[in-house]
Amino acid sequence: MSEPEFISTTRSSYDAVAEEYAEVVGDAVRGNPFARAMMGAFAELVKEAGASRVADLGCGPGRVTAHLHGLGLDVFGVDLSSEMLAIARREQPGLRFEQGSMAALDVEDGSLGGLVSSYSIIHTPPEELPAVFAEFHRVLAPGGCVLLLFFADTDSSQLAWPFDHKVTLAYRLSVDRVGELLRKAGFAEVARLIEQPPADSERGFEFGHVLVRKPVE
Ligand SMILES: C[S@@+](CC[C@H](N)C(=O)[O-])C[C@H]1O[C@@H](n2cnc3c(N)ncnc32)[C@H](O)[C@@H]1O
Repeated sequence: MSEPEFISTTRSSYDAVAEEYAEVVGDAVRGNPFARAMMGAFAELVKEAGASRVADLGCGPGRVTAHLHGLGLDVFGVDLSSEMLAIARREQPGLRFEQGSMAALDVEDGSLGGLVSSYSIIHTPPEELPAVFAEFHRVLAPGGCVLLLFFADTDSSQLAWPFDHKVTLAYRLSVDRVGELLRKAGFAEVARLIEQPPADSERGFEFGHVLVRKPVE
């Protein structure tokens, strides 16, 4: 079956700039106390639930994956881009990275304790997000958590606003609307954090961190 065009475009766009991206773009957690706080809470909840495996979806160079590993999670990374994965494997030789799409994970139903997507749902066309969240629900065990980080807006008049991301087309997303889609996919919201842009921000986008859980039946 042929894959959707946005998947091939995202893969080839990141393949083309992977080394430059890894050099220029830092890491979503190291310089950011808010991301660290939400990831810390996520890790505690996953461990409290007695869960084991966690996937870092759209892991890029694997720095968030390494942070999650440092928090005591049994984590592996998944990404579309083989060039990004090559960097992740080089930078984090002790961790496991697999090529794949977050919309069709090569993982059994109910087999994961947690999922993190750090700035990786941003390249998915908004009309495809319900299918992606349904896939997250499928692979998580009851009680499992999802943590999403994304360019955000507190305006809930629409779901998404496209913007000229430096690598490939991306979308800024309404935090309320994303919360609503996650609820419709069967998740219960646990916490959300909205981070204001720094004073020198080029685009002035807010950053959303949303943590949800698959209810225990
Ligand atoms: C902006 S980078 C973020 C990298 C990393 N998560 C971080 O926070 O540093 C987005 C990454 O998500 C990957 N990606 C985008 N859409 C994806 C999808 N549908 N499935 C798997 N990976 C995806 C891209 O290849 C890219 O490596």
